[in-house]
Amino acid sequence: MSFPQHRPRRLRQSPAVRRLVRETHLVPSQLVLPMFVREGIDEPVAIASMPGVVQHTLDTLRRAAAEAAEAGVGGVMLFGVPAVRDATGSGADDPRGILNVATEAVVAEVGDALVVQTDLCLDEFTDHGHCGVLAGDGSVDNDATLERYAAMGLAQARAGSALLGLSGMMDGQVAAVRAALDAEGFTDTLIMAYSAKYAGAFYGPFREAVDSQLKGDRRTYQLDPANAREGVKEAVMDADEGADIVMVKPAQPYLDVLADVRAAVDIPVWAYQVSGEYSMIEAAAAHGWIDRRTAIQDSLLGIRRAGADAILTYWAAEAAGWLREQL
Ligand code: PBG
Repeated sequence: MSFPQHRPRRLRQSPAVRRLVRETHLVPSQLVLPMFVREGIDEPVAIASMPGVVQHTLDTLRRAAAEAAEAGVGGVMLFGVPAVRDATGSGADDPRGILNVATEAVVAEVGDALVVQTDLCLDEFTDHGHCGVLAGDGSVDNDATLERYAAMGLAQARAGSALLGLSGMMDGQVAAVRAALDAEGFTDTLIMAYSAKYAGAFYGPFREAVDSQLKGDRRTYQLDPANAREGVKEAVMDADEGADIVMVKPAQPYLDVLADVRAAVDIPVWAYQVSGEYSMIEAAAAHGWIDRRTAIQDSLLGIRRAGADAILTYWAAEAAGWLREQL
C-alpha cells in the first residue's frame, strides 16, 4: 500500500467544507473601534501616519460612533486630544475636559447599542507626555499618579463610560481605580487593564494621532519586549486586583504572550492591534505590495486564534461590514 491513507486536503476541498471545519470565528461584536476626539476643531483632521483615521470633532465622533454601532461592532474606545495641557493632566478629570464631554455625547447618541469605553491614562493630557505625574527628579511618580487615575476614573464613570481602559502601566492602578469607583457607587463600571503593554516603536503613529508631547520613552513603566513571563505575571496580578478584562498590546508581535495570558487567567483577554500594526498594512497595501482586505482579515483572525476574545482595531467598523456580508 503506497497510497497515502491520510489526506488532510480532503478538509480543504471546497468553500462549504472549509466553512464547516473552520476552527476560529470572528464576529463584529468582538471588535472594538478606537476613536480620537480633538478639542477646538471644526472639521476632522487627518492623521498622516494612519491613512483613513482622523481626529474627530464632537459632531463627527458622534456620527462615526453611530455608524460603528450600525455595523455591529462591540464597542468604541475613546481617546481625547485636549487644546491645553499641564503637568498633572488636569483636563483628564475635569468634567468639561474633552474626553469627558465626548463620552457624554457618544453615550447620548448610541445608548446601549455598543459599549462606550474610555482610555484612562494621563499622557494625552500632560505637557510632558508621560502617562503619570513626575517627581522632582523627572521620574514618573507611581503612587502620586494613582491618585490622578482614581480621579480620572470617577470623572469618566460620571460621564457615562461603561468600561475604563487602564493603559498607564502604573503598579497598583487596577486596585486604586476599583476602590475609588466602588466608594462612589460605580460598582458596575468595568475595568479593562492593559496588563501586558510593551514599550517600543509600534505606538509611533498613535503619538501623532494624540499630538503627543513625549520626549524620551516609557521604558520605566511599559514592559521590555524581551519578557513574556513578566507580561503573564502582570495579567495575573491585574486579575487579582479586580480587573474584569485583561489585555495584551501590541497584538501581532506578542501572540505568544497572548496565548500564555489566555491560559493563565479565566476572565476575558483582549488584544490591541495598535497604530503601527495598522499603518504597516495600510502602507504596504497602498504600494500594491499586499492585498489589503486579506491582510487585515488574516491579521485579525491570527489574533483571535492566539486567544483574544475581542480585538481593538482601527479597522473595526470596516471589518464588521465585511463580516456581515459573509453571513
Ligand atoms: C496611552 C496609550 C497609548 C496607546 C493606547 N493608549 C500610547 C502609548 O502608550 O504610548 C497606543 C495605541 C496605538 O498605538 O494604537 N494612553
